[in-house]
Amino acid sequence: MPHSSDRHRTHGGVIHHARGYEIVSMLAFGGFRRHTYDALVRASGAEPGDRVIDIGCGTGYLTRRAAVAVTPTGTVTGVDPSPQMLAVARRLAPPTCTFTEAGGERLPVADGTAHRVVSCLAFHHIPPELRVDAVREMHRVLRPGGRLLVADFRPPRARLAQHLLGAVTGPAMRYDGSDEVRAAVAAAGFRDVTTGRQRPLLFVVTATRP
Ligand SMILES: C[S@@+](CC[C@H](N)C(=O)[O-])C[C@H]1O[C@@H](n2cnc3c(N)ncnc32)[C@H](O)[C@@H]1O
Repeated sequence: MPHSSDRHRTHGGVIHHARGYEIVSMLAFGGFRRHTYDALVRASGAEPGDRVIDIGCGTGYLTRRAAVAVTPTGTVTGVDPSPQMLAVARRLAPPTCTFTEAGGERLPVADGTAHRVVSCLAFHHIPPELRVDAVREMHRVLRPGGRLLVADFRPPRARLAQHLLGAVTGPAMRYDGSDEVRAAVAAAGFRDVTTGRQRPLLFVVTATRP
């Protein structure tokens, strides 16, 4: 995927090429993008009337799928530091979605106001030194009993496949961040932390704010 920085091997950086990202993402999911994202929305527990925050929303695909689940009275706010990604997201989204330009490490969202915080393929784009702050922010904005879902890239097991993928997409895509996400989520004070998979590409960490 197009990156502004590969300074750190686990850091994807801010994405500026929204159209390129859409094409790569559609190809990568091979026709299963909607199926995969709808499964993530179901796993988040989003239901009609909820307020959902989507961290690292990019072009807003997960934001839009979550909006379907919370309709008619719920809302979804997509957060991303890339104005280019947000311009596409705003164009494609229904009126129940709003978008804010910010990094996940500093959310312009009031304390305890969200029923769900979701994030897909964005954690490895947050600079490593800011990831713990980003998870603390997810905890801060959730209501007591609110649910967190963080999904991110799960590299293939085979070393050759890992190597080939890394050569095409950059070093961040060779990194499996599931242990890092799980540790940050537990350290932030969440309970009922679980790790699972969403085939073919993702690991999924879910948790509840006490
Ligand atoms: C691979 S895209 C994922 C987009 C979308 N969630 C999806 O599943 O299609 C990763 C996004 O993370 C964003 N990003 C980069 N740094 C970030 C940060 N500090 N906080 C939140 N998002 C960030 C990038 O700009 C990019 O839009």
